[in-house]
Amino acid sequence: MEIQDILTNEVASPPTVYHKLKTAIENPESTFQDFAEIIRSDAGLSSRLLRIVNSSFYGLSGPVDSITHALNILGVDQLGDLALATVVMTKFQGIPKDLINLDNYWRHNIASGLIVREIALLFGEANTEKLYLLGLLHDIGGLVLCKESAGIARTCLNRANYEGKHLHQVEQEELGFTHAQVGGELLNRWRLPELMVETTIYHHNPLNAPKFPKYAAIVHLADILAYEMDFGGSGEPFIPPLGGQIMEFLQLERQQLSGIKLSVQSSFEEIFQMFYG
Ligand SMILES: [Fe+2]
Ligand SMILES: [Fe+2]
Repeated sequence: MEIQDILTNEVASPPTVYHKLKTAIENPESTFQDFAEIIRSDAGLSSRLLRIVNSSFYGLSGPVDSITHALNILGVDQLGDLALATVVMTKFQGIPKDLINLDNYWRHNIASGLIVREIALLFGEANTEKLYLLGLLHDIGGLVLCKESAGIARTCLNRANYEGKHLHQVEQEELGFTHAQVGGELLNRWRLPELMVETTIYHHNPLNAPKFPKYAAIVHLADILAYEMDFGGSGEPFIPPLGGQIMEFLQLERQQLSGIKLSVQSSFEEIFQMFYG
C-alpha cells in the first residue's frame, strides 16, 4: 500500500469553509467583504470563532463583537488558521469508538497545540496562535488511517498495545510508512505551509527535519508533555520517550517546563470545550 492509496477520498480535500477562504485569500481581487461573507455563511463557525477570539486563548484587551471586527484585529490569515482549527474535527466524525476514541484523540492534540504555543512563548516567538496548529494537527495522519483504512489501523493499534511498541514503529512494519508521513501528505494536499507539513512528518524524529528542526523538536516535546500530563492520547500504548538531545538542542531545562504545565493545566478545559465541545 502507498500513502496515495489512503488519500484518494473526500478526506484529501480540505474542510470546505477553510478551502473557500484559502481560495479567496489567494485571489488578489478578493475584498475584505468576501472574506467576511465566507465566514458568516457558516453561522456555527462564526459564533464559535467569536467565542474563541474573546477568550483567554487570545487575551485581547477589548471585546470583539463581529466577524468584520475580528478580521480587522487578527487579519484574514490568522482568522483562517483559527477557522481551520475549529472545523477540522468535522472531517473525521464517524470513526468507530472502539477503534479510536475521538474525545481522547482531540484532547491529546488540542493539549499539544497549547503546549507548542507555550514553548514558543518561552523562545519569545511572535504569532504563537499560528503555531497552535502545529500541535493540533501533528497526529492527524492517525485519524486518516482510522477513517480510510480501518482494518490496518486496528491491526497497528492492537499490535502496539500487545507488543508494547510505538505506534509509528508498528505502522512502519505493517505499511512501510507512518501516521506522521500520512499526516504530512494530507496537509500538503490541503496546501498548508511547508512548516506545518514538515513538523508533522518529523514529529517523532525532529532532528532529521531538513528545514525546521527547531519547530519539529517543539512539537515532539509538546507531544510527550501532553502524554505526561495525561491529556488523552492518539493511540500510543505508553508515554513516548523524549528523543535524546532534544532538550540540549532546544537549550531548555526540565524545570522550565513546569510553568508550561501549570499554565496549560489551568486553561485546558475551557479551550478544549471551545474548539471541540
Ligand atoms: Fe505521532
Ligand atoms: Fe501525538
